[in-house]
Amino acid sequence: MSKQIAIDGPAGAGKSTIARRVAKNLGFIYVDTGAMYRAMALFMKKEGIGADETEKIVEKCKAADITIKHENGEQMVFLNGENVNGLIRTQEVGNMASAISVIGYVREKLVELQQKLAETTDVVMDGRDIGTVVLPNAECKVYLTASSKVRADRRFKELTEKGMECDIDVIEKEIIERDYRDMHRDISPLKQADDAVLVDSSDMTIDEVVDKIITLYKG
Ligand code: DC
Repeated sequence: MSKQIAIDGPAGAGKSTIARRVAKNLGFIYVDTGAMYRAMALFMKKEGIGADETEKIVEKCKAADITIKHENGEQMVFLNGENVNGLIRTQEVGNMASAISVIGYVREKLVELQQKLAETTDVVMDGRDIGTVVLPNAECKVYLTASSKVRADRRFKELTEKGMECDIDVIEKEIIERDYRDMHRDISPLKQADDAVLVDSSDMTIDEVVDKIITLYKG
């Protein structure tokens, strides 16, 4: 059976940076499930559909072919054949992804893709429902979090480094709203799995978190 490490947690907790490094260290594939929800959100935006138009989203969702490829260890997300990696990292797409991820049909479609990927490959997968729903039998589960202030600081730095203009207070407010929506939706809400280890990265360096997860995995 393939080996699985599940990392869940709120927006901006450092999941992708950490998961990517853990995967590299262990020779596993890193699967960023948020990117799939983001690609679906981008599709809906391109189609001119709003976050609250559930029926249209369910209908249009069928026309979105989302696939994943790995090039030099980096995950590439394709939306109907187009590599959309460079288009999905905005705060706006993230908020839309959170909004459409409450819809059961959207989740079923993406969860199926995620489970297929993990069937045959050793993975470090990050998201919101990996330890609870997608990979319930993962041998190592981590719930990675940090205070909303620290997470907003990190996201602010990330965005300004990319040359995007942003306001730190708006970012923190959006992070708190996104956490609330992700944690309170009816289907697969973000929560710590019973057998997940809680890691609060507020006062930890990236290396410390990576080491901690590898130690937990090697047990
Ligand atoms: O991790 P991220 O910020 O790229 O995720 C964007 C949104 O997608 C997140 O706010 C909620 C949704 N998501 C989800 O519902 N389940 C996942 N496994 C991953 C992301």
